[in-house]
Amino acid sequence: MCPARAAGTQRAETIVAGHLLAMRDLTIEGGIGVAPFPIVRGIDLELRRGEVLGIIGESGAGKSTIGLAALGMMRPGCRLAGGTVAFDGIDLFRVDPSRGRRIRGTRIAYVAQSAAASFNPAHRLLKQTVEGARAHGVMSAAAAAAKAVSLYRLLRLPEPDRFGERFPHQVSGGQLQRAMIAMAMMTDPDLIVFDEPTTALDVTTQIEVLASIKELVSSRNLSASWKFLLTDRLYVCNPGPSTLPTGELPKRLSGALAKAARFTQLLIVRASPVTWIGPPT
Ligand SMILES: Nc1ncnc2c1ncn2[C@@H]1O[C@H](COP(=O)(O)OP(=O)(O)OP(=O)(O)O)[C@@H](O)[C@H]1O
Ligand SMILES: [Mg+2]
Repeated sequence: MCPARAAGTQRAETIVAGHLLAMRDLTIEGGIGVAPFPIVRGIDLELRRGEVLGIIGESGAGKSTIGLAALGMMRPGCRLAGGTVAFDGIDLFRVDPSRGRRIRGTRIAYVAQSAAASFNPAHRLLKQTVEGARAHGVMSAAAAAAKAVSLYRLLRLPEPDRFGERFPHQVSGGQLQRAMIAMAMMTDPDLIVFDEPTTALDVTTQIEVLASIKELVSSRNLSASWKFLLTDRLYVCNPGPSTLPTGELPKRLSGALAKAARFTQLLIVRASPVTWIGPPT
């Protein structure tokens, strides 16, 4: 993963205003140095402040690519072939690099699928939880430590006052995932991107972590992307280069499904514990 710059374009920091996040005609290609191939093409989506947007699609459909693009980032080997990603009116792919880093460090947070891969096994959790906020000078060391403990408590981690003294291998997978969420929340970001934050966990732990996320998101009026059972709206990636935005879904999976495209219905029925009660149209 790396911060990405649009090749051959001038800096244009302020574009589409109005939404917290707006992607317009976003096209990302893979294959630098070889024949390029499309990964996502023509993505148009937006997220309002306080809204939760779910993104679903088959493996390889481009969900993580879109999630990273929401931070103005791409994996090595990918390139921006067209379009814009505007966060609070700022074009994340063309913003001045230091301003982009600050936005990513303070206003947009990312929670990855595997907390184990995100933590350094050699350092205690508290040190790692606070270091992003400290690096951006957002708060003093004492305030950061106090904030971390309050987040541990909010996320129902055991012994919140002392939890941060542990090393990553001294906590469970679900606890480590919640520690990563605490890390993401340190600066009270406006937007948090969850890239399948629970799929590496067993089902019971998934439910606990999802409940924590839900509580956090609703208590802080946070905008978030991911995990469609919690979402206000749903965006569906078709496999392959094209994407298929759907209409809006209500908070629960119900009648609106009947109007959704067949691909969407099948995807949701496969992924969801909710029983499908009508034939796909
Ligand atoms: N660094 C890269 N270089 C080239 N192609 C890549 C790179 N990373 C991903 N891809 C390709 O981009 C496509 C989309 O990948 P992405 O990780 O966004 O999918 P996904 O929907 O998140 O899948 P999953 O559900 O398996 O996590 C895949 O076909 C993948 O092979
Ligand atoms: Mg992915």
